[in-house]
Amino acid sequence: MTATHYTTLRPVTNKMEPPCPLSARFEGSFAYYTVKDRLPQILTKVIDTVHRNKNKFLEAHGEEGIEAEKKALSFFSKLRNELQTNKPILPLTDELPDTQIWNQYLDYQKTLVGNDEEPSWFRSPWLYVECYLYRRIQEGMSLSPPISEYDVFQDVKNESFFQSQQAMLSLCAHLQELKGKVNSLSNDDVRGDIYKLLQVSLWGNKCDLSISGGQDNSQKTSVLSSLDDFHGFILVDDMNSLWNILSKNRDGNAESRTRVDIVLDNAGFELVTDLILADALLSLDLATEVHFHGKVRPWYVSDTTKHDFDWTIRQCTATNNKWMSKCGQTWRENLKKGRWVYQEHLFWTLPHEFCTMAEVAPELYTELQKSDLVLFKGDLNYRKLTGDRKWDHTVPFSQALRSFHPAPLCSIRTLKADVQVGLQAGTAERLTAAETDWMISGKYGVIQFSPVV
Ligand code: F6P
Ligand code: MG
Repeated sequence: MTATHYTTLRPVTNKMEPPCPLSARFEGSFAYYTVKDRLPQILTKVIDTVHRNKNKFLEAHGEEGIEAEKKALSFFSKLRNELQTNKPILPLTDELPDTQIWNQYLDYQKTLVGNDEEPSWFRSPWLYVECYLYRRIQEGMSLSPPISEYDVFQDVKNESFFQSQQAMLSLCAHLQELKGKVNSLSNDDVRGDIYKLLQVSLWGNKCDLSISGGQDNSQKTSVLSSLDDFHGFILVDDMNSLWNILSKNRDGNAESRTRVDIVLDNAGFELVTDLILADALLSLDLATEVHFHGKVRPWYVSDTTKHDFDWTIRQCTATNNKWMSKCGQTWRENLKKGRWVYQEHLFWTLPHEFCTMAEVAPELYTELQKSDLVLFKGDLNYRKLTGDRKWDHTVPFSQALRSFHPAPLCSIRTLKADVQVGLQAGTAERLTAAETDWMISGKYGVIQFSPVV
């Protein structure tokens, strides 16, 4: 992907103009509270973390490490001040492969505001400024060698993995038991089993550390035993559409190939639920290959990087629990044999709505077109799928995607931002009357499908 791809970017005028983006300029909205309270809170945690690791930097790099720590801290304090006082969005000053694309995107944002205004934290689209915050955190580290590669969210991601240990063990045991009886399962059994694991992966998305401002948000109890209780909170359940695609692999001849892509979200418990789902897809003969898509940099606190992905599989393999260790070994083998593929692309850490992917990152769009089914995990992916806009809740999902149809796709997401489409008439009103925070509490979820249209 090059910056030149970006220069062709223009607003997609697909039949009708889409509604306006969510933004902190709407006082009292969730975007407003996020920018006002949660983002500064996350930055404060970043500052604490860098400071707490001072001795580590000293040991690794001597005085240079300490100088770098001071530099990073002063960068982050200044950044927090810019955010809290609604300063204009500044161009990036580092020299990473996506710096130019970000700066061009800022120029594009400038074209969207009046002449007497500049893009700023409380005025610009929420999706843009929130992504920009994480990119600025990267900038702060990049400009502070020799500690540039340090992941400021590594400690909380690792802690959250260990805090969910029990819940993960019971899932690994469940998977191994399922695999032990795979030859005796009827199609209906397989359907029931994969539906369970799709729901586990859905509720795994409650555990992100961005919504909790970096506080522990791990899964302490087994999810499997609660699936029936949770089922009523799934607002859109398109699992049957997924089954129609996946079951073809079981029914097809031995040479038939089904590729499933999973656009990952959070490390920790959620990632383990995704790995378990991916394992079951192969073991139950519902897919022949799974491609995972991760982030190239620390992102939204808990999102999965290549390091997190490898670390998680290593941890699982090394544990003294036989079921989990068996899972870890299988997963390593899957990667070695190419049945699982881990992929990275800068596009996932840009602020762009997915409807611009074909223009901005055509090679990624082409890659996704090779898939039979793309699963988008998590809330941020949903926001990018729908452009994070004030859609009417009854607008069909396929319409809100605005021509983003690389392959049949499905969002598996708990609701943690006030955007939701594809509901039956009256549903949103009923929910709002009962619980004003239904769109942001993480209590509700969707498994929402769109075919290629
Ligand atoms: O900071 C808020 C937010 O963007 C929410 O919209 C969302 O809940 C979270 O961060 C990221 O969620 P997820 O990890 O599910 O993408
Ligand atoms: Mg996340």
